[in-house]
Amino acid sequence: MAEPERIVVCAGFTQALGLLGRALRSSGARSVAMETYGVQEHRRIVTDSGLAITSVAVDRDGARVDELGRSDAVLLTAAHQFPVGATLSPERRARAIEWASATAGIVNEDDYDGEFRYDRQPVGALQALAPDRVVYAGTASKTLAPGLRLAWLVLPAGLVEPVAAAKALADGQSGTLEQLTLARFIASGAYDRHVRRARLAYRRRRDRLVATLARTAPEVRVTGIAAGLHALVELPAGADEDEIVRRAAGHGLALEALGAYRPPGGDRGPALVVGYATPPEHAFSGALARLGAVLGG
Ligand SMILES: Cc1ncc(COP(=O)(O)O)c(C=O)c1O
Repeated sequence: MAEPERIVVCAGFTQALGLLGRALRSSGARSVAMETYGVQEHRRIVTDSGLAITSVAVDRDGARVDELGRSDAVLLTAAHQFPVGATLSPERRARAIEWASATAGIVNEDDYDGEFRYDRQPVGALQALAPDRVVYAGTASKTLAPGLRLAWLVLPAGLVEPVAAAKALADGQSGTLEQLTLARFIASGAYDRHVRRARLAYRRRRDRLVATLARTAPEVRVTGIAAGLHALVELPAGADEDEIVRRAAGHGLALEALGAYRPPGGDRGPALVVGYATPPEHAFSGALARLGAVLGG
């Protein structure tokens, strides 16, 4: 007998998280553990699904999965913690799976930028370790464009029906034209070539960012750069991250303060979340020079 279909295509991870929240809630879940540093919108989506949030701290080895306790599920940016940039250590990956197996918990793996890994061997999906306990969420937002609104959930068998039901209620289905176009892009090999080319280009940008700041602003530390399209730029103690964001805006740079993602009383010092994928190629050198001037000045 053929394997039942386990993939639900969604309007971005943003919708996927809401559908999953509703599906978990209707399956009896009460709480989801979330990384303390993360996208505030995601927290609102989870609470809007009727689930309570418990917190898991984040350190240089990723989420402290030993704190999962009695939550029914956990949302992890395992491959590249957002926004801190850590990779969940092999030991913690194993612990997360052990926790899910022992408690019948669900791990929701938000693999938002896993295609762009630079410094190490690709990190395998947690989902491959325990397909019946892990939901894998991928998105085209980083590889293609956030405006496309295409993401996919690979689900444990028991969640397929409730997630598909939530999707049907939300908007019927995601656009057929976009899905068929992406399918053809993948099947022709062109998607893979695009991702390889983009990975090389983004790695060069990342290296230039690191080199520029080492030269012009040696007191900052650039971290979280093994993957993805953003870096965490840690500022000297006492720096006013909001003031720097304002100053950067005056120079035409759209930066974010870590404060946008920091929990109340968060333990991390002042920092900026710097995305380096956005400027068009011809504008990148200029943007980098202005960033160096703002941070070094
Ligand atoms: C942590 C995180 N997860 C997921 C996503 C993707 O969200 P969406 O697919 O809704 O664009 C992003 C942003 O791209 C993100 O920062």
